[in-house]
Amino acid sequence: MSLPASAKIRNNGHYEIGGVDVADLARQYGTPLYVLDEVTLRNQCRAYVDSFHQAYPNSEIAFASKALCTLGVAKIASDEGLGFDVSSGGELFTVLKAGADPKKIYFHGNNKTLKEIEEGIKAKVGYFMVDNLAELQNIENLAAGLGQQVEIMIRINPGIEAHTHDFIQTGKIDSKFGVPLDMLDDFILQVKAMKQLKLVGFHSHIGSQILDITPFIEEVKLLLDLTLKHGTQVIGLGGGIGISYLPDQSAPQISDFAQKIGAILKGKTTAKLTLEPGRSIVGQAGVTLYTVGAVKKIPGIRTYAIVDGGMADNPRPILYEAQYEVFQATQALAQPAEVVTVAGRYCESGDMLVRDVKMPRLNVGDLLMVSCTGAYNYSMASNYNRVPRPAMVLVNQGGSKLLVKRESYEDLIRNDIF
Ligand code: LLP
Repeated sequence: MSLPASAKIRNNGHYEIGGVDVADLARQYGTPLYVLDEVTLRNQCRAYVDSFHQAYPNSEIAFASKALCTLGVAKIASDEGLGFDVSSGGELFTVLKAGADPKKIYFHGNNKTLKEIEEGIKAKVGYFMVDNLAELQNIENLAAGLGQQVEIMIRINPGIEAHTHDFIQTGKIDSKFGVPLDMLDDFILQVKAMKQLKLVGFHSHIGSQILDITPFIEEVKLLLDLTLKHGTQVIGLGGGIGISYLPDQSAPQISDFAQKIGAILKGKTTAKLTLEPGRSIVGQAGVTLYTVGAVKKIPGIRTYAIVDGGMADNPRPILYEAQYEVFQATQALAQPAEVVTVAGRYCESGDMLVRDVKMPRLNVGDLLMVSCTGAYNYSMASNYNRVPRPAMVLVNQGGSKLLVKRESYEDLIRNDIF
């Protein structure tokens, strides 16, 4: 099931999310519209915190803010006790504004600017995740200038290949991320020579949308060995598990994932385990609503239903050939009648949201709902074709509130000087 936990079908065939009829949301806020289910978001936060706490009590969950970074989302994640993985000054700024505890912030990024490093040191973030020697030296210099001690974790490249799209696989040997294992001893010597820095742990991230727990087990064993060898106190396992975008995909249970990881560590170390899930926290909480603006039948070839959004609000299909489920949002009870391709409005022939899917007969004005759009949609959205980005609403218990307002034309030219 790819819909949010609170999704239901009403007697009139309309979907509701968070107790709100999606047709009402479309009328009130317009389309395209990102809708976020608060219940799913909080459930996922709790599932991670509780499962890992049970499986291995000394654990900390940090939300990977790159998946969806808004003030409201960060406030909810913080309220649920999560820390944050940030990978830029902008994400750091947002989560701090939302009230995040700096001690639970993990500052990532493989080329943090001097300004960003300084912002992180001044904010007293818990951990700098160091990717390379140039960065190590920059942190040392800036920390010395500010008279501060900084705790760092080294991001290693574990050389583990996980089964996912090539662009989101990060742990294989030929990767721009992390310190290769055979260069690690030398790297550690360099860290030890730095006066302001303390090495507290090792981190790795093997990739995203991984539906199999096995590579994570391999990864945690490797990190455990390093932890024992160097006597460090924090083990950073990177992102979380994948999610089911389609009915035939089966994602692992968070509790099972936690048990299997906890079992490797229990009794062998007391180091803190940290995990930075993004997709599996917010992915399924989100849906996007679109209105069909045209139905184009090319006899014997294909029927296109063209919607008012596309690659600028969801670039994942064109970037990774990502697949999504789409629903006729006000005719949930209607039988599938034809095979259609849901195409976007942008000036690019690859701008398709869902290809060749069976739908009830579609008409201009119909409301469509694409599920599982909570992660890496808004955060990777653009203004291609100078189209304002959609609004985002939070729904719960029959009510809705704006998390992000729709951009205006004025917003589009705000930074144009001449
Ligand atoms: N930690 C680190 C260091 C990461 O690089 C990432 C994701 C995460 C945690 C969160 O991983 P997750 O739990 O979300 O799998 N734009 C791509 C995904 C890129 C992920 C990059 N790193 C997509 O739309 O599929």
